Amino acid sequence: MSTNEELQSTIGKLISPGKGILAADESLPTIGKRFDPLSIPNTDENRRAYRSLLFTAPGAEAFISGVILFEETLGQLADDGTPLPKILERRGIVPGIKVDKGTVPLANAPGDLITRGLDGLPDRLKGYKAQGARFAKWREVYGITDRNPTPLGIEANAEALAAYAAICQAEGIVPIVEPEVLIDGNHTMERCSEVTEAVLQAVFHALHRQKVILEHMVLKPSMVLPGKDCPPKATPEQVAAATVKVLRRTVPAAVPGIYFLSGGQGPEEATANLNAMNVQFPNLPWQLSFSYGRALQDPVIRAWAGRTQNGPAAQEAFCRRAKMNGLARSGRWTSVLETSA
Ligand code: 13P
Repeated sequence: MSTNEELQSTIGKLISPGKGILAADESLPTIGKRFDPLSIPNTDENRRAYRSLLFTAPGAEAFISGVILFEETLGQLADDGTPLPKILERRGIVPGIKVDKGTVPLANAPGDLITRGLDGLPDRLKGYKAQGARFAKWREVYGITDRNPTPLGIEANAEALAAYAAICQAEGIVPIVEPEVLIDGNHTMERCSEVTEAVLQAVFHALHRQKVILEHMVLKPSMVLPGKDCPPKATPEQVAAATVKVLRRTVPAAVPGIYFLSGGQGPEEATANLNAMNVQFPNLPWQLSFSYGRALQDPVIRAWAGRTQNGPAAQEAFCRRAKMNGLARSGRWTSVLETSA
């Protein structure tokens, strides 16, 4: 297969109707933060056991087209000795890999961050591909204050995202391009909208400059929301209208899919917001779906609580959230389903 055919085949699988992506790529400190409230020790065995239960949940393949893994998971085995990426592949789920190495402060842009990990990326991608990964994820982070993100922050982060995406495509790996505008703070929804528009404009300019093939990537943005310390919350209809307005202004129609992160929204909130977009805007040029971490996993970790005997209940909790979001992906979710399911 040529690189182009490879990219086309992967994107075709990822964008499957009725499905979305599970982000299970928490770094070691981040998964620790998820386990801590339930006093689950952050050991490699617990991470393996937890992720195995997610990847073997019966029926989840109806709603999940791909899973983003953390590097450690790519090399771990299920209880029967099968490598975890192989388990996914057998179920028709595409394994992906988080390739960025987290953020550091950006020089000359106080308050802004920049993501590391470009050094040696082509070689790392070759290794991940040999382990089964077919797509990748890279996240740039933008905090909102009166001064941030700065124009330099917006440009530097866009350039890093585009460099990563271009390298991935050269290796036959589909890039998920993730510019996350954080929910933290007391900013208004209007301010989030203004920042998200500037960020996405810069990202697509940089992708163009670096000759990234838009047809062979997925955008993973945050939704346009008021800051979490800015009451009152916006309704799903308001979130949908504000988010789609920004996307229409910035994202070319050639991009096949926009798969949102949940970014601190509650599980049901993230579902309701995605659903509202698909109800209000059924004829957009891109597929609008989910690539949630916390909004898919919070109820699962709670149900599991680190105990083997809770595995089936945790898998059920995962399938249920996956199904609700699978419905939201085509605007067929209602809040009644949450109580009746
Ligand atoms: P959340 O849905 O929890 O924001 O995680 C998605 C993700 O991949 C963050 O990089």
